[in-house]
Amino acid sequence: MTLRTRITDMLGIEHPVVQGGMMWVGRAELASAVSNAGGLGILTGLTQPTPDALRAEIDRCRAMTDKPFGVNLTFLPSVSPPPYAEYRRAIIESGVRIVETAGNNPQEHVEDFKSHGIVVIHKCTAVRHALSAERIGVDAVSIDGFECAGHPGEDDIPGLILIPAAADKLRIPMLASGGFGDGRGLVAALALGADGINMGTRFIATREAPVHDNVKRFIVANDERATRLIFRAFRNTTRVSANSVSNQVTEILRDPNAVFEDVRELVLGAKGRIALETGDLDHGLITAGQVQGLIHDVPSCQELVERIVRDAETIIRQRLSAAIREPVAA
Ligand SMILES: Cc1cc2nc3c(=O)[nH]c(=O)nc-3n(C[C@H](O)[C@H](O)[C@H](O)COP(=O)(O)O)c2cc1C
Repeated sequence: MTLRTRITDMLGIEHPVVQGGMMWVGRAELASAVSNAGGLGILTGLTQPTPDALRAEIDRCRAMTDKPFGVNLTFLPSVSPPPYAEYRRAIIESGVRIVETAGNNPQEHVEDFKSHGIVVIHKCTAVRHALSAERIGVDAVSIDGFECAGHPGEDDIPGLILIPAAADKLRIPMLASGGFGDGRGLVAALALGADGINMGTRFIATREAPVHDNVKRFIVANDERATRLIFRAFRNTTRVSANSVSNQVTEILRDPNAVFEDVRELVLGAKGRIALETGDLDHGLITAGQVQGLIHDVPSCQELVERIVRDAETIIRQRLSAAIREPVAA
């Protein structure tokens, strides 16, 4: 038994569950495990140091699954941007069929991917951005509510409002993202008008996620209050887990005269990578969302995806349909 939606049909997957791109985490081990479980696993393009390394990672993933998987390409403001066109070429030439784009101005990239017949899912955090993505021709959007790990945007609209607001306006299929971790969330997403869910944080606490066990235990131990929003003053709001580094950054940036230079050393991506890889939880920033409060174990991706879909079906068949009653005659 499974849940079939416009997303499962479009992506050729069994279950409407997608693993969003995650810097340093979205490697072949995780992406292939999610795809083998019947969801859609996604490699994170920029986790690979060069476009050639990405080609090799795509080959590695293909050797680990014969199911569809995607690649994420994230466009963030940067003083020295990575060679996006070359990463794009590596994705196209490797024969990848599904791409998740995220971040600013994806138009030229979307046009190139589309001209090669690639299915593009654009991830964004506002209805207006979802509509412009639809206009430039993406096949689906993932819409990230305020709960999400990483970049929730600057509007602070939680999924409970953002998802139905987007569903009212969009014609293309939509994944609900941010705060999803179990079958209840999947049913809620479908009820709000989405065609499936996209998850980040929940997939870090799985057996196959290529991060240190301390990080998995940390996510399980954290509750829903254990995140911090940083960089609001720079209009680059980022949700990360609470640790000594994010607490220090929050403290420094409380000063209205603070500038990015004041925290640059603390927030280096390379330090976050070391935290994830060595399990030294206070070495750098660890990206995670409020859904930490709903994560209580470290299952395999297969167990997780099966459980989410099975619980969603049970909720729909039993709890929801049992609530519909004929009115008692007076
Ligand atoms: C460790 C981590 C790294 C992430 N890195 C990226 C990234 O590089 N690009 C991107 O588009 N989204 C990134 N995200 C966001 C996820 O793809 C997803 O949209 C988000 O985690 C959804 O919220 P959730 O964590 O509540 O499920 C990251 C999330 C996490 C937890």
